[in-house]
Amino acid sequence: MKINVVVVGKGGREHALVWKLSQSPQAGTIYCCPGNAGTAKDGVNVPFDGTDFERLGRFCLKENVGLVVIGPEDLLALGLSDYLRERGILVFGPTKDAARIESSKVFSKNLMRHADVPTADFRVFDHPSSAHTYVGSRDYPVVVKADGLAAGKGVVVCKDIPEGLKAVERIMIDEEFGRVAGKQIVVEKKLDGEEVSMLALVSGRTILALPPTQDHKAVFDGDTGPNTGGMGTYCPAPIGTPELILEAEESVFVPIVHAMKRSRNPFSGVLFAGLMLTKQGTKVLEYNCRFGDPETQVILMRLKSDLLELLLAVAQERLGELPDDAVIWDPRPAVCVVMCSAGYPGKLEGSKPISGLEAAALLPDVKVFHAGTKVGVKRIETDGGRVLGVTALGNTLAEAKMKAYEAVKLITFQGAHYRTDIADKALRKK
Ligand code: AMP
Ligand code: GLY
Repeated sequence: MKINVVVVGKGGREHALVWKLSQSPQAGTIYCCPGNAGTAKDGVNVPFDGTDFERLGRFCLKENVGLVVIGPEDLLALGLSDYLRERGILVFGPTKDAARIESSKVFSKNLMRHADVPTADFRVFDHPSSAHTYVGSRDYPVVVKADGLAAGKGVVVCKDIPEGLKAVERIMIDEEFGRVAGKQIVVEKKLDGEEVSMLALVSGRTILALPPTQDHKAVFDGDTGPNTGGMGTYCPAPIGTPELILEAEESVFVPIVHAMKRSRNPFSGVLFAGLMLTKQGTKVLEYNCRFGDPETQVILMRLKSDLLELLLAVAQERLGELPDDAVIWDPRPAVCVVMCSAGYPGKLEGSKPISGLEAAALLPDVKVFHAGTKVGVKRIETDGGRVLGVTALGNTLAEAKMKAYEAVKLITFQGAHYRTDIADKALRKK
Protein backbone atom coordinates (compact mmCIF):
# COMPACT_ATOMS: atom_id res chain seq x y z
CA MET A 1 0.00 0.00 0.00
CA LYS A 2 1.25 3.46 -0.86
CA ILE A 3 1.79 5.89 1.99
CA ASN A 4 0.87 9.55 1.84
CA VAL A 5 3.23 11.81 3.75
CA VAL A 6 3.10 15.45 4.91
CA VAL A 7 6.41 17.26 5.37
CA VAL A 8 5.81 20.35 7.51
CA GLY A 9 7.88 23.45 6.76
CA LYS A 10 9.00 25.52 3.79
CA GLY A 11 12.80 25.60 3.75
CA GLY A 12 15.59 23.85 1.93
CA ARG A 13 15.58 21.06 4.49
CA GLU A 14 11.93 20.36 3.73
CA HIS A 15 12.51 20.39 -0.03
CA ALA A 16 15.31 17.84 0.40
CA LEU A 17 12.97 15.66 2.51
CA VAL A 18 10.15 15.89 -0.05
CA TRP A 19 12.53 15.11 -2.92
CA LYS A 20 14.01 12.06 -1.22
CA LEU A 21 10.72 10.75 0.19
CA SER A 22 9.10 10.97 -3.24
CA GLN A 23 11.72 8.50 -4.55
CA SER A 24 10.53 5.82 -2.15
CA PRO A 25 8.80 2.82 -3.74
CA GLN A 26 6.26 3.10 -0.89
CA ALA A 27 5.51 6.79 -1.50
CA GLY A 28 1.96 7.87 -2.27
CA THR A 29 1.49 11.65 -2.43
CA ILE A 30 4.20 13.64 -0.67
CA TYR A 31 2.63 16.86 0.57
CA CYS A 32 4.49 19.89 1.89
CA CYS A 33 2.83 22.24 4.38
CA PRO A 34 3.09 25.02 3.20
CA GLY A 35 6.19 24.31 1.05
CA ASN A 36 7.92 26.44 -1.58
CA ALA A 37 8.28 26.44 -5.38
CA GLY A 38 10.63 23.44 -5.23
CA THR A 39 8.36 21.27 -3.10
CA ALA A 40 5.47 22.17 -5.43
CA LYS A 41 7.44 20.52 -8.23
CA ASP A 42 8.68 17.42 -6.40
CA GLY A 43 5.53 17.04 -4.27
CA VAL A 44 2.20 18.75 -3.62
CA ASN A 45 1.95 21.94 -1.54
CA VAL A 46 -0.93 22.49 0.85
CA PRO A 47 -2.24 26.07 1.16
CA PHE A 48 -1.72 26.63 4.89
CA ASP A 49 1.15 26.32 7.33
CA GLY A 50 1.88 24.04 10.26
CA THR A 51 0.86 26.57 12.93
CA ASP A 52 -2.75 25.72 12.10
CA PHE A 53 -2.73 22.45 14.07
CA GLU A 54 -6.45 21.78 13.68
CA ARG A 55 -6.49 22.24 9.94
CA LEU A 56 -3.41 20.07 9.53
CA GLY A 57 -4.95 17.37 11.72
CA ARG A 58 -8.15 17.40 9.63
CA PHE A 59 -6.13 17.35 6.40
CA CYS A 60 -4.14 14.30 7.52
CA LEU A 61 -7.26 12.35 8.41
CA LYS A 62 -9.05 13.33 5.19
CA GLU A 63 -6.12 12.56 2.90
CA ASN A 64 -5.25 9.33 4.69
CA VAL A 65 -1.77 10.55 5.61
CA GLY A 66 0.41 7.74 6.96
CA LEU A 67 3.30 9.87 8.26
CA VAL A 68 3.91 13.51 9.15
CA VAL A 69 7.53 14.70 9.18
CA ILE A 70 7.95 17.95 11.11
CA GLY A 71 10.87 20.10 9.95
CA PRO A 72 11.12 23.26 12.08
CA GLU A 73 11.93 23.36 15.80
CA ASP A 74 9.34 26.00 16.66
CA LEU A 75 6.46 23.71 15.68
CA LEU A 76 7.96 20.84 17.68
CA ALA A 77 8.35 23.20 20.65
CA LEU A 78 4.69 24.20 20.28
CA GLY A 79 3.62 20.57 20.53
CA LEU A 80 2.55 19.79 16.95
CA SER A 81 3.71 16.19 17.20
CA ASP A 82 1.73 15.64 20.44
CA TYR A 83 -1.38 17.19 18.85
CA LEU A 84 -1.22 14.92 15.79
CA ARG A 85 -0.35 11.78 17.76
CA GLU A 86 -3.35 12.35 20.00
CA ARG A 87 -5.43 12.09 16.84
CA GLY A 88 -3.89 8.76 15.88
CA ILE A 89 -1.56 10.19 13.21
CA LEU A 90 1.95 8.74 12.92
CA VAL A 91 4.60 11.44 13.36
CA PHE A 92 8.36 11.69 12.85
CA GLY A 93 9.54 14.20 15.44
CA PRO A 94 9.89 14.49 19.22
CA THR A 95 7.17 15.44 21.70
CA LYS A 96 6.98 18.99 23.02
CA ASP A 97 8.66 17.87 26.24
CA ALA A 98 11.51 16.10 24.44
CA ALA A 99 11.93 19.09 22.09
CA ARG A 100 13.07 21.08 25.14
CA ILE A 101 16.52 19.66 24.38
CA GLU A 102 16.56 22.48 21.81
CA SER A 103 13.84 24.89 22.93
CA SER A 104 15.34 25.44 26.39
CA LYS A 105 19.09 25.96 26.76
CA VAL A 106 18.69 25.66 30.53
CA PHE A 107 16.97 22.28 30.23
CA SER A 108 19.53 21.12 27.71
CA LYS A 109 22.62 22.17 29.67
CA ASN A 110 21.27 20.74 32.92
CA LEU A 111 20.56 17.46 31.16
CA MET A 112 24.07 17.42 29.68
CA ARG A 113 25.50 17.93 33.15
CA HIS A 114 23.27 15.23 34.59
CA ALA A 115 24.17 12.77 31.80
CA ASP A 116 27.86 13.60 32.00
CA VAL A 117 28.04 14.81 28.40
CA PRO A 118 31.17 16.90 27.69
CA THR A 119 30.11 20.53 27.33
CA ALA A 120 31.37 24.02 28.26
CA ASP A 121 31.26 24.90 31.99
CA PHE A 122 28.16 26.98 32.68
CA ARG A 123 25.85 28.63 35.17
CA VAL A 124 22.16 29.48 34.84
CA PHE A 125 20.79 32.89 35.91
CA ASP A 126 17.34 34.38 36.26
CA HIS A 127 18.47 37.82 37.47
CA PRO A 128 20.71 40.22 35.57
CA SER A 129 22.53 41.39 38.71
CA SER A 130 23.83 37.95 39.69
CA ALA A 131 24.71 37.23 36.05
CA HIS A 132 26.66 40.52 35.94
CA THR A 133 28.63 39.65 39.04
CA TYR A 134 29.45 36.21 37.66
CA VAL A 135 30.50 37.45 34.20
CA GLY A 136 32.57 40.24 35.79
CA SER A 137 34.52 37.77 37.90
CA ARG A 138 35.47 35.39 35.05
CA ASP A 139 39.05 35.27 33.82
CA TYR A 140 37.93 33.88 30.44
CA PRO A 141 35.58 35.07 27.67
CA VAL A 142 32.01 33.83 27.88
CA VAL A 143 29.07 32.99 25.66
CA VAL A 144 25.68 34.24 26.83
CA LYS A 145 22.62 32.31 25.69
CA ALA A 146 18.97 33.20 26.01
CA ASP A 147 17.09 30.20 27.36
CA GLY A 148 14.33 30.06 24.75
CA LEU A 149 14.13 29.77 20.98
CA ALA A 150 15.16 32.98 19.25
CA ALA A 151 15.33 31.96 15.58
CA GLY A 152 18.98 31.01 16.04
CA LYS A 153 19.91 34.49 17.26
CA GLY A 154 19.80 34.10 21.04
CA VAL A 155 23.49 33.19 21.43
CA VAL A 156 26.06 35.97 21.97
CA VAL A 157 29.69 34.90 21.68
CA CYS A 158 31.65 37.58 23.60
CA LYS A 159 35.30 38.38 23.03
CA ASP A 160 35.85 40.01 26.43
CA ILE A 161 34.18 40.73 29.77
CA PRO A 162 32.58 44.11 28.79
CA GLU A 163 30.93 42.37 25.84
CA GLY A 164 29.71 39.65 28.19
CA LEU A 165 28.17 42.24 30.53
CA LYS A 166 26.50 43.95 27.58
CA ALA A 167 25.11 40.61 26.35
CA VAL A 168 23.46 39.99 29.73
CA GLU A 169 21.76 43.41 29.43
CA ARG A 170 20.70 42.84 25.84
CA ILE A 171 19.05 39.53 26.65
CA MET A 172 17.64 40.12 30.15
CA ILE A 173 16.94 43.84 30.37
CA ASP A 174 16.40 44.97 26.76
CA GLU A 175 14.71 41.61 26.00
CA GLU A 176 16.23 41.74 22.53
CA PHE A 177 15.28 38.15 21.78
CA GLY A 178 11.84 38.36 23.36
CA ARG A 179 10.47 38.40 26.86
CA VAL A 180 10.12 34.67 27.35
CA ALA A 181 13.39 33.66 25.66
CA GLY A 182 15.36 36.06 27.88
CA LYS A 183 13.81 35.26 31.27
CA GLN A 184 16.66 32.91 32.04
CA ILE A 185 20.15 32.76 30.56
CA VAL A 186 23.01 30.33 30.38
CA VAL A 187 26.49 31.84 30.78
CA GLU A 188 29.17 29.48 29.59
CA LYS A 189 32.86 29.36 28.88
CA LYS A 190 33.79 30.29 25.32
CA LEU A 191 35.44 27.35 23.59
CA ASP A 192 37.80 27.33 20.62
CA GLY A 193 37.95 24.79 17.86
CA GLU A 194 36.38 23.57 14.67
CA GLU A 195 32.64 22.88 14.59
CA VAL A 196 31.03 19.77 13.16
CA SER A 197 27.39 18.70 12.93
CA MET A 198 26.50 15.13 13.88
CA LEU A 199 22.94 13.96 13.33
CA ALA A 200 21.49 10.67 14.48
CA LEU A 201 18.13 8.96 14.04
CA VAL A 202 16.83 8.02 17.47
CA SER A 203 14.02 5.62 18.22
CA GLY A 204 13.62 3.88 21.55
CA ARG A 205 17.13 2.87 22.55
CA THR A 206 18.38 2.67 18.99
CA ILE A 207 20.71 5.38 17.70
CA LEU A 208 21.75 5.50 14.07
CA ALA A 209 24.43 8.11 13.40
CA LEU A 210 24.32 9.87 10.02
CA PRO A 211 27.57 10.97 8.34
CA PRO A 212 29.22 14.08 9.82
CA THR A 213 28.77 17.40 8.03
CA GLN A 214 30.19 20.89 8.36
CA ASP A 215 28.19 24.07 7.99
CA HIS A 216 29.38 27.63 7.34
CA LYS A 217 27.54 29.95 9.69
CA ALA A 218 29.04 33.36 8.86
CA VAL A 219 27.57 35.17 5.87
CA PHE A 220 30.82 36.09 4.07
CA ASP A 221 33.89 34.25 2.84
CA GLY A 222 36.58 33.47 5.39
CA ASP A 223 33.96 33.15 8.15
CA THR A 224 33.44 36.91 8.35
CA GLY A 225 30.26 38.93 8.88
CA PRO A 226 27.21 38.12 10.97
CA ASN A 227 25.96 34.59 11.61
CA THR A 228 23.20 33.09 9.47
CA GLY A 229 21.13 29.92 9.50
CA GLY A 230 23.89 28.33 7.42
CA MET A 231 25.51 29.33 4.12
CA GLY A 232 26.68 25.95 2.89
CA THR A 233 27.66 22.44 3.89
CA TYR A 234 29.67 19.45 2.87
CA CYS A 235 29.36 15.79 3.71
CA PRO A 236 31.11 13.70 4.80
CA ALA A 237 33.29 16.13 6.72
CA PRO A 238 36.81 14.65 6.67
CA ILE A 239 37.33 15.94 10.21
CA GLY A 240 34.60 13.52 11.29
CA THR A 241 36.89 10.50 11.39
CA PRO A 242 35.55 7.03 12.29
CA GLU A 243 37.05 7.58 15.76
CA LEU A 244 35.13 10.83 16.15
CA ILE A 245 31.89 9.18 15.06
CA LEU A 246 32.41 6.42 17.61
CA GLU A 247 33.23 8.96 20.31
CA ALA A 248 30.11 10.96 19.45
CA GLU A 249 27.94 7.85 19.65
CA GLU A 250 29.37 6.85 23.00
CA SER A 251 29.72 10.15 24.79
CA VAL A 252 27.30 12.50 22.99
CA PHE A 253 24.28 10.43 21.88
CA VAL A 254 24.02 7.38 24.15
CA PRO A 255 24.13 9.21 27.52
CA ILE A 256 21.63 11.91 26.51
CA VAL A 257 19.19 9.48 24.88
CA HIS A 258 19.29 7.26 27.94
CA ALA A 259 18.92 10.21 30.32
CA MET A 260 15.87 11.41 28.40
CA LYS A 261 14.33 7.96 28.50
CA ARG A 262 14.98 7.66 32.22
CA SER A 263 13.38 11.04 32.89
CA ARG A 264 10.26 9.93 30.97
CA ASN A 265 10.94 12.27 28.07
CA PRO A 266 12.11 9.71 25.53
CA PHE A 267 13.43 11.26 22.34
CA SER A 268 12.16 10.08 18.99
CA GLY A 269 13.18 11.63 15.69
CA VAL A 270 16.47 13.11 14.62
CA LEU A 271 18.86 14.44 17.23
CA PHE A 272 21.41 16.93 15.96
CA ALA A 273 24.52 17.58 18.03
CA GLY A 274 26.53 20.72 17.33
CA LEU A 275 30.04 19.74 18.37
CA MET A 276 33.22 21.72 18.86
CA LEU A 277 36.51 19.88 18.58
CA THR A 278 38.65 21.61 21.19
CA LYS A 279 42.18 20.90 22.38
CA GLN A 280 40.55 19.50 25.51
CA GLY A 281 38.42 17.07 23.49
CA THR A 282 35.02 17.02 21.81
CA LYS A 283 32.39 19.23 23.47
CA VAL A 284 28.69 19.62 22.76
CA LEU A 285 27.68 23.22 21.99
CA GLU A 286 24.03 22.38 21.62
CA TYR A 287 21.50 19.74 20.70
CA ASN A 288 18.80 20.37 18.12
CA CYS A 289 15.66 18.26 17.97
CA ARG A 290 15.31 18.25 14.16
CA PHE A 291 17.13 17.97 10.85
CA GLY A 292 19.73 20.66 10.16
CA ASP A 293 19.40 23.14 7.33
CA PRO A 294 21.51 22.98 5.09
CA GLU A 295 22.98 19.78 6.63
CA THR A 296 19.99 17.74 5.39
CA GLN A 297 20.56 18.72 1.77
CA VAL A 298 24.03 17.13 1.62
CA ILE A 299 23.12 14.15 3.78
CA LEU A 300 20.09 13.20 1.69
CA MET A 301 21.96 13.81 -1.55
CA ARG A 302 24.18 10.89 -0.48
CA LEU A 303 21.49 8.57 0.88
CA LYS A 304 20.84 5.69 -1.47
CA SER A 305 18.30 3.86 0.68
CA ASP A 306 14.59 4.41 1.14
CA LEU A 307 14.18 7.46 3.41
CA LEU A 308 10.48 6.77 3.95
CA GLU A 309 11.26 3.32 5.33
CA LEU A 310 13.84 4.83 7.69
CA LEU A 311 11.55 7.56 8.98
CA LEU A 312 8.66 5.11 9.39
CA ALA A 313 10.95 2.79 11.35
CA VAL A 314 11.84 5.66 13.71
CA ALA A 315 8.21 6.73 14.15
CA GLN A 316 7.09 3.13 14.77
CA GLU A 317 10.00 2.41 17.13
CA ARG A 318 11.42 -0.39 15.02
CA LEU A 319 14.65 1.26 13.89
CA GLY A 320 16.59 -1.43 15.76
CA GLU A 321 14.94 -4.15 13.68
CA LEU A 322 16.11 -2.84 10.31
CA PRO A 323 18.75 -4.91 8.54
CA ASP A 324 22.31 -3.55 8.36
CA ASP A 325 21.92 -2.75 4.67
CA ALA A 326 18.89 -0.49 5.30
CA VAL A 327 21.18 2.54 5.15
CA ILE A 328 23.48 2.80 2.18
CA TRP A 329 25.46 5.94 1.39
CA ASP A 330 26.80 7.12 -1.92
CA PRO A 331 30.57 7.13 -1.35
CA ARG A 332 30.84 10.42 -3.24
CA PRO A 333 31.00 13.64 -1.19
CA ALA A 334 28.31 16.31 -1.55
CA VAL A 335 28.58 20.10 -1.33
CA CYS A 336 25.69 22.54 -0.88
CA VAL A 337 26.08 26.27 -1.63
CA VAL A 338 23.30 28.51 -0.30
CA MET A 339 22.28 31.43 -2.52
CA CYS A 340 20.73 34.32 -0.58
CA SER A 341 18.72 37.46 -1.20
CA ALA A 342 20.30 40.93 -0.95
CA GLY A 343 20.49 42.04 2.67
CA TYR A 344 20.38 38.56 4.24
CA PRO A 345 20.80 37.98 7.22
CA GLY A 346 19.49 41.52 7.73
CA LYS A 347 16.65 43.40 6.10
CA LEU A 348 15.42 42.00 2.79
CA GLU A 349 13.98 43.67 -0.29
CA GLY A 350 10.85 42.39 -2.07
CA SER A 351 10.64 39.30 -4.28
CA LYS A 352 12.86 39.03 -7.37
CA PRO A 353 12.43 36.72 -10.36
CA ILE A 354 14.95 33.87 -10.58
CA SER A 355 16.40 32.71 -13.88
CA GLY A 356 18.62 29.80 -14.85
CA LEU A 357 16.93 27.12 -12.76
CA GLU A 358 16.12 25.00 -15.83
CA ALA A 359 19.71 25.11 -17.08
CA ALA A 360 21.07 24.17 -13.65
CA ALA A 361 18.63 21.26 -13.41
CA LEU A 362 20.16 19.73 -16.53
CA LEU A 363 23.60 19.31 -14.96
CA PRO A 364 24.32 15.74 -13.87
CA ASP A 365 24.64 15.00 -10.13
CA VAL A 366 23.25 18.42 -9.26
CA LYS A 367 20.06 19.19 -7.37
CA VAL A 368 18.86 22.69 -6.66
CA PHE A 369 16.91 22.63 -3.41
CA HIS A 370 14.54 25.55 -2.97
CA ALA A 371 14.20 27.42 0.33
CA GLY A 372 12.83 30.98 0.10
CA THR A 373 11.09 30.66 -3.28
CA LYS A 374 7.53 30.91 -4.52
CA VAL A 375 5.74 30.42 -7.80
CA GLY A 376 5.32 33.93 -9.21
CA VAL A 377 3.06 35.13 -12.01
CA LYS A 378 5.54 34.34 -14.77
CA ARG A 379 8.40 32.59 -13.05
CA ILE A 380 9.76 31.37 -9.78
CA GLU A 381 10.60 34.27 -7.45
CA THR A 382 12.62 34.76 -4.29
CA ASP A 383 10.62 34.67 -1.07
CA GLY A 384 12.95 35.01 1.89
CA GLY A 385 16.60 35.22 2.93
CA ARG A 386 18.05 31.86 2.04
CA VAL A 387 16.71 31.21 -1.46
CA LEU A 388 18.35 28.08 -2.88
CA GLY A 389 20.68 25.29 -1.74
CA VAL A 390 22.59 24.30 -4.84
CA THR A 391 23.88 20.80 -4.15
CA ALA A 392 26.22 18.52 -6.11
CA LEU A 393 27.92 15.16 -5.80
CA GLY A 394 31.48 14.68 -7.06
CA ASN A 395 34.08 11.94 -7.14
CA THR A 396 36.12 14.09 -4.77
CA LEU A 397 35.19 16.96 -2.47
CA ALA A 398 36.96 19.34 -4.86
CA GLU A 399 34.86 18.04 -7.76
CA ALA A 400 31.62 18.29 -5.76
CA LYS A 401 32.50 21.91 -4.95
CA MET A 402 33.30 22.67 -8.59
CA LYS A 403 30.03 21.18 -9.80
CA ALA A 404 27.97 23.02 -7.19
CA TYR A 405 29.51 26.35 -8.20
CA GLU A 406 29.07 25.54 -11.90
CA ALA A 407 25.34 25.29 -11.19
CA VAL A 408 25.35 28.40 -8.99
CA LYS A 409 26.85 30.43 -11.87
CA LEU A 410 23.90 29.51 -14.11
CA ILE A 411 21.34 30.90 -11.65
CA THR A 412 20.70 34.61 -11.30
CA PHE A 413 18.42 36.94 -9.39
CA GLN A 414 18.88 40.58 -8.47
CA GLY A 415 21.10 40.99 -5.41
CA ALA A 416 21.98 37.28 -5.15
CA HIS A 417 24.92 36.55 -2.90
CA TYR A 418 26.64 33.40 -1.71
CA ARG A 419 29.93 32.31 -0.22
CA THR A 420 32.60 31.23 -2.69
CA ASP A 421 34.62 29.19 -0.20
CA ILE A 422 32.28 26.37 0.84
CA ALA A 423 34.36 23.25 1.67
CA ASP A 424 37.70 25.11 1.38
CA LYS A 425 38.44 24.45 5.06
CA ALA A 426 38.47 20.70 4.35
CA LEU A 427 40.21 21.07 0.98
CA ARG A 428 43.04 23.13 2.46
CA LYS A 429 43.87 20.34 4.88
CA LYS A 430 44.40 17.78 2.14
P1 AMP B 1 24.21 27.21 19.89
O1 AMP B 1 22.86 27.64 19.39
O2 AMP B 1 24.26 27.01 21.36
O3 AMP B 1 24.86 26.10 19.11
O4 AMP B 1 25.16 28.39 19.48
C1 AMP B 1 25.22 28.87 18.15
C2 AMP B 1 26.66 29.06 17.76
O5 AMP B 1 27.33 29.85 18.74
C3 AMP B 1 27.46 27.77 17.69
O6 AMP B 1 27.31 27.12 16.46
C4 AMP B 1 28.86 28.30 17.90
O7 AMP B 1 29.38 28.85 16.71
C5 AMP B 1 28.64 29.41 18.90
N1 AMP B 1 28.84 28.92 20.29
C6 AMP B 1 27.90 28.41 21.12
N2 AMP B 1 28.43 28.06 22.30
C7 AMP B 1 29.73 28.34 22.24
C8 AMP B 1 30.84 28.21 23.14
N3 AMP B 1 30.69 27.73 24.37
N4 AMP B 1 32.05 28.61 22.72
C9 AMP B 1 32.23 29.14 21.49
N5 AMP B 1 31.24 29.29 20.59
C10 AMP B 1 30.01 28.90 20.95
N1 GLY C 1 22.57 24.64 10.05
C1 GLY C 1 22.35 24.74 11.42
C2 GLY C 1 21.01 24.39 11.90
O1 GLY C 1 20.21 23.82 11.19
O2 GLY C 1 20.72 24.69 13.05
